[in-house]
Amino acid sequence: MAVLSLIVLAGLWLLTTVSANKTPRPPWPEPIDVVELLLPPVISRNETGACTAAVNPRGTGCIGQVFNEFQSGDFTPDGDHVVVNVEFIGASSAPDPASIYSGEQVILVKTDGTNFSNGDPWKCISCGISASNAQSLDPQKDYPHVFRSGTKVLWGHNILVCGNILVSSDKCKPENTYIYPLYWPISADGSGPGGVPRELRLHPDDEHIGWSSFTSAGGQHAYFGRLQFNPSPSSGDTLAPRYDLVDVSLLMEPNGLAPIMANGNELELHDQAITVGELRGFSGSGDEITYIGSPREANNIDVFAVHLITGAVRRLTSHPEYTDPLGWSYDNGWFVAMDTRGTDRQMWMSGMRMIPPVIDLITVTAASSTRNNGLRRFFQPILIDCYGDRGDYFGQQINAGGNGSNGAINDPNWNGRADPAFSYDGTKIVYWQALVTSPSCGGANPLKCPESTAEGGRRYRAMLAHLKRRKPTKPAPVFKVPKNIPWAIPFPPGASVPPQYILPTGNYTLKGKSSGIAHATLIANPSTGDFKTISVSYKNYSDDNGDHIISGFESVTSTKIPGENPWMNHLDWSSDLKQTGVVNATKITSPGGFQMSIDAMVNIFSANGTLTTTIDGAVYRQPANGT
Ligand SMILES: *[C@@H]1O[C@H](CO)[C@@H](O)[C@H](O)[C@H]1NC(C)=O
Ligand SMILES: *[C@@H]1O[C@H](CO)[C@@H](O)[C@H](O)[C@H]1NC(C)=O
Ligand SMILES: *[C@@H]1O[C@H](CO)[C@@H](O)[C@H](O)[C@H]1NC(C)=O
Ligand SMILES: *[C@@H]1O[C@H](CO)[C@@H](O)[C@H](O)[C@H]1NC(C)=O
Ligand SMILES: *[C@@H]1O[C@H](CO)[C@@H](O)[C@H](O)[C@H]1NC(C)=O
Ligand SMILES: *[C@@H]1O[C@H](CO)[C@@H](O)[C@H](O)[C@H]1NC(C)=O
Ligand SMILES: *[C@@H]1O[C@H](CO)[C@@H](O)[C@H](O)[C@H]1NC(C)=O
Repeated sequence: MAVLSLIVLAGLWLLTTVSANKTPRPPWPEPIDVVELLLPPVISRNETGACTAAVNPRGTGCIGQVFNEFQSGDFTPDGDHVVVNVEFIGASSAPDPASIYSGEQVILVKTDGTNFSNGDPWKCISCGISASNAQSLDPQKDYPHVFRSGTKVLWGHNILVCGNILVSSDKCKPENTYIYPLYWPISADGSGPGGVPRELRLHPDDEHIGWSSFTSAGGQHAYFGRLQFNPSPSSGDTLAPRYDLVDVSLLMEPNGLAPIMANGNELELHDQAITVGELRGFSGSGDEITYIGSPREANNIDVFAVHLITGAVRRLTSHPEYTDPLGWSYDNGWFVAMDTRGTDRQMWMSGMRMIPPVIDLITVTAASSTRNNGLRRFFQPILIDCYGDRGDYFGQQINAGGNGSNGAINDPNWNGRADPAFSYDGTKIVYWQALVTSPSCGGANPLKCPESTAEGGRRYRAMLAHLKRRKPTKPAPVFKVPKNIPWAIPFPPGASVPPQYILPTGNYTLKGKSSGIAHATLIANPSTGDFKTISVSYKNYSDDNGDHIISGFESVTSTKIPGENPWMNHLDWSSDLKQTGVVNATKITSPGGFQMSIDAMVNIFSANGTLTTTIDGAVYRQPANGT
């Protein structure tokens, strides 16, 4: 025992010192096979009884052509199943036994080519559960995740529990399955409606959980807490047996560093600032929280990790394109991220590297919103080792090996979605995609809508990647979560979010780490107190020993229209930047500037004028309006 833990400790020490002092060389690309998983049969109509015995002889449900609520999630511990959220349609009415395959349900899908004992390659685990076993079921049923025990599933704002039985086992039946809602007490006496968590992610210890939650002002904070079963709640408006979110921490440092702070008339950049903009999950061992954080480079949205105890921050991605959902391997060695890299979706604004993120104080929401065109995503799954992007290593696209034709595994019209996941042994990855669909194509949109080649004309698909050269690995030991996260802010019921550092308006200088200087002018909007205009001029500015030397001027003004929804962004942008060094690049707006409007909840690009980035002759232009 002692010897074993010494070995484990030595291993951890090695990993820590390697990452601190000498990051290993990036891995070579590896061979990956991708296949599509079988899903329930598809029907095109949604009337009662449309899911006939001819379509599904076993009477175990049908799904529709459009994805609506579809989402795939984690593998079960054996690696032979993945959890998937579906919407069953066309069920016949009770007392037909097939009537239970109706509406939004969570199913397991086989990944080993075999079938469940019912003869199907899938099994519904939430269907047919009696009302008494599922009291106060919460309508939010997204982001399905399997607990490491294999006996429970996180299903939106609910937890599905099969006692001590694996959910993948035949013994897990509707009679012994319970679904409990989650409740996040936020009022001091625990009364009333709870807080509204979104995109919940399980910690590997099966006890803790992380989530994000929108503010009413168009912002978002992230939280970490513990799941506590409450069999007979006496307060709060969910009075059925439920899981409470307790011992909650707000993932923010009290009086902590901000990414940009003033020191007299100088601006200082703080790479160690903890800026959990949206929580994305945990490392394989659970020692780090992953999140989308404040940009390190202008208009470049990346994923970061912060250590649960030390608060040390690591930047995981640095490619100029946009990164968002990710899944971590259980052995801690790898992650798979959904990323727009390779599509050139964002390069027009983010392609010039090493611009300090000063205008981002205004542009960050707009810059992260242009990644989508409505429901159209530009994500593909990228496999990256645990040290992240570095040098010219930007991971490996998992589904690169197709011929690009309609329906191929790399057909760009099939867009990656949240969340990708690894199998426990590290040899498989599951992710899902949706086919671009009207109004993100067709009609006024210049992109023609593609025909679906998937079964039954289905416009969504779950994909299984085999990392065929890999040997199975063991999950890393699960990190022991401390009672309190030392750097975070305890957030008991009744707590409120403390004020955060506000960079005062004014004129500043920012010294390049290697050379040059930037002058920045920050002007407030007198009615909102937010920044209205940020202008920065660069002179021979470099943070990386002259690899990227920036000169020129950039200015962005944000207009808030009183009474308009807080997610709406109107920017008036003017750029004339030039870069020399390892590349020759420019970032230039047209005469009269570039005006952009985008609602962060709708993601329809609309602009007048142009903003264009050119890198060594490659020209990157903004998307056409509406696309
Ligand atoms: C199917 O019909 C039900 C009931 O009218 C409706 O709630 C649901 O949104 C429909 N689903 C699809 C995929 O059209
Ligand atoms: C599993 O089910 C599928 C779909 O119903 C069927 O096509 C296949 O033959 C079955 N496989 C086995 C091994 O029984
Ligand atoms: C692409 O691959 C598909 C099979 O995956 C094949 O049917 C098709 O002919 C190929 N197209 C081209 C252009 O090679
Ligand atoms: C800031 O600089 C601008 C010129 O860039 C100047 O017009 C303005 O007066 C300065 N403001 C302060 C407070 O020094
Ligand atoms: C500009 O910066 C580069 C390196 O970043 C340096 O070598 C050069 O001397 C600087 N030029 C001036 C005029 O400061
Ligand atoms: C950048 O442009 C200059 C001047 O045309 C040229 O000498 C230099 O080689 C270019 N650098 C790169 C990286 O292409
Ligand atoms: C573009 O200009 C038109 C005509 O002036 C205006 O109606 C529209 O709001 C502008 N769009 C943006 C994004 O500024």
